[in-house]
Amino acid sequence: MTRRYEIGVIPGDGTGPEVVAEGIKVLEALSRRFDLDFQLKWFDLGGERYLKSGVLLPDEALDSIRETDAIFLGAIGHPDVKPGILEREVLLRLRFELDLYINLRPVALMDGVDTPLKGKGPEDIDFVVVRENTEGLYAGGGGAFKKGTPDEIAIQESVNTRKGVERCIRYAFEFCAGRNRKRRLTLCGKNNVLLYESDLWSRVFNEVHREYPDIETSYQNVDALCMWMIKNPEQFDVIVTTNLFGDIVTDIGAVIQGGLGVAAGGNINPGGCAMFEPIGGSAPKYAGLKKINPLAAICAVQMMLDHLDEREAASTLTASVQKTVKEDLKSLEAGKMGFNTSEVGDLVVRHLDG
Ligand code: IPM
Ligand code: MN
Repeated sequence: MTRRYEIGVIPGDGTGPEVVAEGIKVLEALSRRFDLDFQLKWFDLGGERYLKSGVLLPDEALDSIRETDAIFLGAIGHPDVKPGILEREVLLRLRFELDLYINLRPVALMDGVDTPLKGKGPEDIDFVVVRENTEGLYAGGGGAFKKGTPDEIAIQESVNTRKGVERCIRYAFEFCAGRNRKRRLTLCGKNNVLLYESDLWSRVFNEVHREYPDIETSYQNVDALCMWMIKNPEQFDVIVTTNLFGDIVTDIGAVIQGGLGVAAGGNINPGGCAMFEPIGGSAPKYAGLKKINPLAAICAVQMMLDHLDEREAASTLTASVQKTVKEDLKSLEAGKMGFNTSEVGDLVVRHLDG
């Protein structure tokens, strides 16, 4: 029996459309092979549309996105739009309105990929960051007062609700148990400075830990965690952290796993919608040049298949991405791959068949 899924596709800005095209190419190849039927629903959102018509994320689009089984996003961000508008009104609004409260970001070095970390290999760099995705400093609370005067005040508030913290931590324990690698969960905070926020996170973490006695836990301040991610990444299995800390540490994660060319993430509501994306952004300087690496978007498709519980298609795709990286590509960097963007997609499709 054919299994059907409705996929919302948001190519977005910059190199987004180019990498999304390769992700869809791979998805279509997999659908033929595994008897899957993906109905694609395209959404024109992002900087170009905003500049032309002032439209950001219309309510009808949001309602229609809400009905999909999963969303595949290219990138949001445009050099001609002031920073903050598209990010807040499109990307963050999607995360908030669809309550995609988990941002799942695997950091895994594939065989054959160079890492800037001397002496470290695929067995050392293999962990997952669970980033809270709807609260913290991203909630947008705060304000400016006496703006432009010497007495100006700027306040940016971090929102941490008991419910929001607990559901994220619970997901991280569950995910760590399911992943079953080192069964080690690290809480990342800043308890020597952020007295209220980190205190809530630590208490909830310790409480939930009682339900998972066979998961080993530890705590690290975010500054130390950044240092350890570079010095001894092999100690990590799953890391759980706040929205902003998760944003920052996963850029380090991307670099140590071989760069933004392969880094993908999932914005997930475990009981509802989920949106998968390459985390490298819109890379405007490469837009339209066919030089960008589509593997991060293809890895986002792999995560989407996993989320849809299409495990066999997902693991077949992982294997063919690994082969492409190991056997074909000269580098993962844009313009240095030895192939253009769509040729890389073709290589992955070719490896799907063995
Ligand atoms: C990310 C991005 C976004 C974030 C930006 C574009 C708002 O950096 O997904 O990591 O900060 O979450
Ligand atoms: Mn980021």
